[in-house]
Amino acid sequence: MLTLAIETSCDETSCGVVKDGREVLSNIISSQIEIHREYGGVVPEIASRKHIEGIDVIIQEALDAAKVGFKDIDFISVTQGPGLVGALLVGLSSAKAIAYGLDIPIVGVNHIEGHICANYIQHRDLEPPFTCLIVSGGHSYLIDVLDYQEYKLHGRTRDDAAGEAFDKVARALGLPYPGGPHIDQLALEGNGDAIDFPRVFLESDSYDFSFSGLKTAVLNYLNQMKQKDEEPNVADVAASFQKAVLDVMVEKSFRLAKENKRSKIVIAGGVAANKGLREMMEQRGKDENVDIFYPSMELCTDNAAMIGSAGYYNFINGKTSDFHMKVMPNLGFLD
Ligand code: KG4
Ligand code: ZN
Repeated sequence: MLTLAIETSCDETSCGVVKDGREVLSNIISSQIEIHREYGGVVPEIASRKHIEGIDVIIQEALDAAKVGFKDIDFISVTQGPGLVGALLVGLSSAKAIAYGLDIPIVGVNHIEGHICANYIQHRDLEPPFTCLIVSGGHSYLIDVLDYQEYKLHGRTRDDAAGEAFDKVARALGLPYPGGPHIDQLALEGNGDAIDFPRVFLESDSYDFSFSGLKTAVLNYLNQMKQKDEEPNVADVAASFQKAVLDVMVEKSFRLAKENKRSKIVIAGGVAANKGLREMMEQRGKDENVDIFYPSMELCTDNAAMIGSAGYYNFINGKTSDFHMKVMPNLGFLD
């Protein structure tokens, strides 16, 4: 089965062709980051306009790169939500038009499920069950994946998403948007034990996360330095902040894996690109005999191929949509 996948939930216009949910024939990603960087974040109206300008060309590029034509496509996979309403509308409208024109089914995909499925593309032999940590710019979840499309939610963020905390701290440090990769890079040069930022574990049995207290602690630290007229060591702040985030994420992931007797932990979402996270997970995995999986850098952040994979599992489970499907900007995961 070939699906043409479309992802426009935020600031990447992405289209790709995926075979049987696992094999990527093409995955074209056109990022608008340079445009939004000037504003320190994604400007929704600009994002929508850029999607409109680019989408037709990128769909054609995805088909060309996969060496297929519209007639070869069996169904369309498209991100339905969560995301920016105007941005999602561009992808969904294009998807509907193509599905209507070709008279083929259309499948609405939850973007967060897409992030999990990025791992099915990267690791062709990966099968559930596994523990999964999903950490992106808008979401943080800790779940048990019992089977394809069978999930049990154990934890979520009570305030900021993991990537959001990275981006806010980065902004306070004067780093460009999006800040996550910059913190990651700086942390390599800093000492993670230099500043004792709080590890917020919440109740002892909780799998939830809370990152806003940590963010505030970093901001307070920077303010105190400023009041004392001292220059903070930016690399040490980045490394110490990152270590405080990772300590909690890694500890909770392994605790859940142990509770559910899982021998695999999968990380997904933009923050799964974090080198420190990958390393800490792998180190602990070695100690505890747990295999760690994560997607390539390109598949961690938003891309259409992951939507094509999730679309395939929806499709084979009979979960197709129709032309009345609406975008769902606030769509949750397992709510
Ligand atoms: O999954 P994603 O592309 O978009 C959402 O669905 O939200 O995630 C984007 C987020 C941003 O907050 C970005 O700063 C963060 O992922 N991110 C990183 C890294 N690369 C991207 N955070 C930490 N370390 C990284 N290397
Ligand atoms: Zn995403």
